Amino acid sequence: MLIFGRQFLIGISFGICYLLGCSLAYDGNSYQPSSPPTVYIHDSSFHPDRILRVTTQVYPLDCTTRYSVVINGSIPGPELRFREGDKIWIRVYNDIKDENLTIHWHGLTMRMSPFSDGTPAASQWPIPPMHFFDYEFELQSGDAGTYFYHSHVGFGAVTAYGALIIEERVKDSPPFVYDDERTLVLTDIFYRNDSDIVGGLMGDPFLWSGETFNVALNGHSRSPNATADKESTSCSYGVVTVKPSTTYRFRFIGGTVLSHVFLAFEGHGSMTVIEVDGHYVSPVEVDHIEIGSGQRFSVLFKSKSIEELSVDRINGKDQYWLQMETRTRALITVSFAVLAYSDADIPDRFTKPTTPPLLLPTESFTSGWLEDELWPLPSRPYDDSFPQASEVTRRIFINVQQNFNVNGTKKVMWHQNGAPWFENSVPEPYLVSLYKNSKSAFPDYENALKHGGYDTKTKTYPAKLGEVLEIIWQNVGNTQSGTVETHPFHAHGDHYWDAGCGTGSYSETVAEAMLQDRMRYGGPIKRDTTNLYRTPPATTTTPGAIVSWRAWRLRVRNPGVWMVHCHIVQHMMMGMQAVFVFGGKNDLKPLTKEQAALYLEFGGQAYGNATYSPRVVHFWHD
Ligand code: C2O
Ligand code: CU
Repeated sequence: MLIFGRQFLIGISFGICYLLGCSLAYDGNSYQPSSPPTVYIHDSSFHPDRILRVTTQVYPLDCTTRYSVVINGSIPGPELRFREGDKIWIRVYNDIKDENLTIHWHGLTMRMSPFSDGTPAASQWPIPPMHFFDYEFELQSGDAGTYFYHSHVGFGAVTAYGALIIEERVKDSPPFVYDDERTLVLTDIFYRNDSDIVGGLMGDPFLWSGETFNVALNGHSRSPNATADKESTSCSYGVVTVKPSTTYRFRFIGGTVLSHVFLAFEGHGSMTVIEVDGHYVSPVEVDHIEIGSGQRFSVLFKSKSIEELSVDRINGKDQYWLQMETRTRALITVSFAVLAYSDADIPDRFTKPTTPPLLLPTESFTSGWLEDELWPLPSRPYDDSFPQASEVTRRIFINVQQNFNVNGTKKVMWHQNGAPWFENSVPEPYLVSLYKNSKSAFPDYENALKHGGYDTKTKTYPAKLGEVLEIIWQNVGNTQSGTVETHPFHAHGDHYWDAGCGTGSYSETVAEAMLQDRMRYGGPIKRDTTNLYRTPPATTTTPGAIVSWRAWRLRVRNPGVWMVHCHIVQHMMMGMQAVFVFGGKNDLKPLTKEQAALYLEFGGQAYGNATYSPRVVHFWHD
């Protein structure tokens, strides 16, 4: 916390609540905060815990410059660190003169502050230019882990992002021992600017963004075409500096907009995976990491001893490469960062490796995926148990397919069950509609049941609290050549149980047998981003054929409006998004008419600007 007085108060109120158990109760269906929502005026006496100021500017990147969305003047934006139990306000200023903005806290569950999820058209009106919005959330036990935040408007996430780390409470420690930690955020490099890219993706004729040029580490990358005279910090490999004989927790964050990255360190043997998407897992030794857009992995990494280093140094080696290769696309990008030792000379951030030092595996269903080796950590029970097949109340199939020449145009779109979803598919954000006129705005549940779970009237997938859904994604060959791609599907609102994946059409028998097998070793883990894989070679399928599936199971427990989408931002722009509405009108956080009114207009009373202090509902804070 920046403000010590506040932290003190938070500490006390949390302490009392902890003793009395009053902070937050999970009643088996949903979370219920104890205190009633109250309106406060956020004038100059209000001090947010963090401030993010978002601008657009020409910013140095990959040995050139690019007009980009930038947070607090830098790419990445600041790393945010909080603790379980913290009640947080983050003020986000949209200082962009001509574009709206929202920020999403990727992987965090906005259990009962549903206006804070940062999805325009779903959970809130976006922040208009030259306005600000105060995002509120409370972190629960079990939230400790690795997350990130990013713009959720247009293609902004390519540069507007930052790490978001949740630590245990002061009195608790992580279930693994390490000496220190480092954050490693991977992102993609695109040279064309955001509006250009989005214009092409949504345009008629369609124009692809192109593939990533490079993968950056913590905002740093050196274009493979860079020349020797270009040696500046904005044209240098990212560097991770470590001390000898130290065990680190490396937190990898898949902040890429497109790339699925396979990576490993040169000369350092295995790493031990301990956390995935904000959940500790049984430690597993791996020789490489596979990280898709939106996914996070923590590994334990043991640095070399002084003795080992001196042997290497005699051989002329005093720094090592982190090799990052993209997979799942036709074009493979091989990118690098440097692992340097603090007792060595200043690292060389400019000289490119003569040949890639590592041979990383290819993608393949047959040789399996890294995620196949992930098991829950028994000592860390989840906040709900894995729902057995008998508990599943409904199975929703979502078939995804790329459609060419939609309605005689030259547009290309991604459809879910025959329809794309775009931000402009609805006249106002769903949650706003729900609070404005709850009766007619709520999805028609019966209508949805008739259409495979999809309410054709509101274009949403409604579910009742307490239901146990199984969501089956299926990859359908595109309308032109039958090609399929890999899609890292991400869910807002809650984490789901990863109930497996396979080739061909989903089969209950096959899937359940795989799950039963997995149960013998501890069962599935919870994730918030998993892949609907392509089946390489991806070019030999038939239009309309189902070639692969991915299954999720989840208990519906957090009322609100939650996006589910492919985390490849290009695909999102092309329609690969869906909206779930959890809970009915009696489940939404009850707000008085006056309280709700603050949020119901674009640029309304909950949105501040230079001369106006916003009126804000405190969902969590007393
Ligand atoms: Cu990180 Cu809706 O996304
Ligand atoms: Cu996708």
